[in-house]
Amino acid sequence: MTARTATTDDVHRLETSALTLGHDRTIVVRELDLELPARQVTVIVGPNGCGKSTLLGGLARTIAPRSGAVLLDGKPLTSLPTRAIARIIGLLPQSATAPDGLTVRDLVRYGRQPHQGLLRQWSTADAEAVEHALSAADLHDLADRPLDTLSGGQRQRAWIAMAVAQDTDILMLDEPTSALDMGHALEVLEMVRGLTERGRTVVLVLHDLTTACRYADHMVAMRDGRVAAQGAPRDIVTPELVRELYGVESAILTDPVHGTPVVCPVGLAPRPGAGR
Ligand SMILES: Nc1ncnc2c1ncn2[C@@H]1O[C@H](COP(=O)(O)OP(=O)(O)OP(=O)(O)O)[C@@H](O)[C@H]1O
Ligand SMILES: [Mg+2]
Repeated sequence: MTARTATTDDVHRLETSALTLGHDRTIVVRELDLELPARQVTVIVGPNGCGKSTLLGGLARTIAPRSGAVLLDGKPLTSLPTRAIARIIGLLPQSATAPDGLTVRDLVRYGRQPHQGLLRQWSTADAEAVEHALSAADLHDLADRPLDTLSGGQRQRAWIAMAVAQDTDILMLDEPTSALDMGHALEVLEMVRGLTERGRTVVLVLHDLTTACRYADHMVAMRDGRVAAQGAPRDIVTPELVRELYGVESAILTDPVHGTPVVCPVGLAPRPGAGR
């Protein structure tokens, strides 16, 4: 394993203060106060359109705040140089696209760009980071294939490898397992947990609540651009929360192996006001 291990000094803190974000004239995220616990996995859950991807965009400064701020080590992101942010915060968006013909290895090498500079050319550390990321995503056999010839799940793993090769202190992945089979999904989730064990801070958006409960040290449940609940999954995941977020009745069991909540959907909840 060649990846560096974060020391106490280079652990960065990311938080928001009354953060409001929007697209065009619509406000999507409203006055959010959020702290992302360092060296832990935070999983953001919530229904389609509630603002999860918009929030990640704000946290990575791809979307500017309408009001409030994202603070990196207490300083507003808007006051920091883009290149410095790119070395600390990595974001893999939900739908990423690459030019035709780009191979898997080219894409993963591209992840090292924030580490390059006028006086700092391609190095052994860059090459090692690329090889490490390719192995972590089980991509060595596919490394020379053009991305547009891969299956959906293989392509998703290539993008994850690109994000991992960035080797940022804070890594955010928006629905990284949406196209992956059970084995590859587990591999990716175990890999991101491994990153936190080496001092990294990880933020994931996931839809599957049971998987989210299994991998989240900290869970943020969003609804309509606000935080409906946050904390350890076993403290916040209740049938009431599942109903509030998704309009679904559920039973919450306990994973017999890991002790984390297992969410069993039972059926759609009656809509408020729709009864006889
Ligand atoms: N580029 C955009 N321009 C205009 N509106 C947008 C844009 N991106 C997202 N929105 C709107 O903002 C709201 C929040 O979208 P967002 O992508 O943050 O949701 P999400 O929680 O990530 O949903 P999903 O689970 O479907 O990925 C939605 O109503 C969406 O239609
Ligand atoms: Mg999204």
